[in-house]
Amino acid sequence: MLDEPRDLQALLSSACRLRSLAFSGTDSHLTLNAHNAPHTLMTISTSDTPASPAPAGQRDELFSSPLSDPGLFRFDASVASVFPDMINRSVPGYATVVGMTGTLAAQHARPGSHIYDLGCSWGASLLSVAREPACDRCELIGIDNSAAMLEQAGSHLAQFPEARRIELRHADVLDSALEDASVVMMNYTLQFIPVQQREALLRRIREAMMPGDVLILSEKLTLPDPRLNEYLVDLHHDFKRQQGYSDLEIAQKRQALEDVLVPETRQAHVERLQKVGFSRCDVWFQCLNFGSLIAIA
Ligand SMILES: C[S@@+](CC[C@H](N)C(=O)[O-])C[C@H]1O[C@@H](n2cnc3c(N)ncnc32)[C@H](O)[C@@H]1O
Repeated sequence: MLDEPRDLQALLSSACRLRSLAFSGTDSHLTLNAHNAPHTLMTISTSDTPASPAPAGQRDELFSSPLSDPGLFRFDASVASVFPDMINRSVPGYATVVGMTGTLAAQHARPGSHIYDLGCSWGASLLSVAREPACDRCELIGIDNSAAMLEQAGSHLAQFPEARRIELRHADVLDSALEDASVVMMNYTLQFIPVQQREALLRRIREAMMPGDVLILSEKLTLPDPRLNEYLVDLHHDFKRQQGYSDLEIAQKRQALEDVLVPETRQAHVERLQKVGFSRCDVWFQCLNFGSLIAIA
């Protein structure tokens, strides 16, 4: 158990193997038994049948046609089916954060403890952790309240033998018991939790930890200076254009996310993390208005 990264150079050098950790295929085949009732466990078991790699989702074109009302953004089946493409083309630095999540987790993993991924979606961060030998003796648990997302996670992770020991739980993180957590990852999920419920969730995470354990918290951030904030929002839209999204797609998705994704400032995150009992925390990575914080219990 460490309270600080062991070797910064080692952390940084691992950043280059990141994209493949996020969403890629192999030639091994596994089957998944999934039940979508709340709090149901999903287990992954191997099959001998060779299969070609499953496609890593479809291209995100959900907002490409004019919609009379984009509605509220939800993690439903249509979003789940395109999620890897959507997040890679929408969140600058996503692949870096996913890969480094495994590296950071390895610094803090305690044998026999739990490593949780809250809002795990397709399980990209869990896969990154599962590939770290230092995490071999931890239980890896992904929690998500979208059955469609977990179904995709199950089939995706089933391609990777190292993901066999990942347990997926269909549950709301607000109702999920957490225990003996040496590592908790919450990448781009807290921003979807109602603001008034965030402190209680973070407090429960902290209470499940021992000194030296770690929370990796990645979020869209707002800047306190409105003009600078607008500047970064514009740059983020430029990033999305570079990734092939049209102005219509950007505008319609932005409308759908209004009041659903509620970002906060870096300072608000740090103050709340300290308030609930984390001893040290700060941003370890930021690209435009997307940042990732590390908080040490
Ligand atoms: C932006 S995605 C997270 C991406 C994922 N962590 C990754 O790095 O690929 C947010 C996820 O959080 C899940 N989610 C949102 N609110 C939740 C809640 N209250 N309980 C459980 N999962 C939740 C959504 O279903 C979605 O899969």
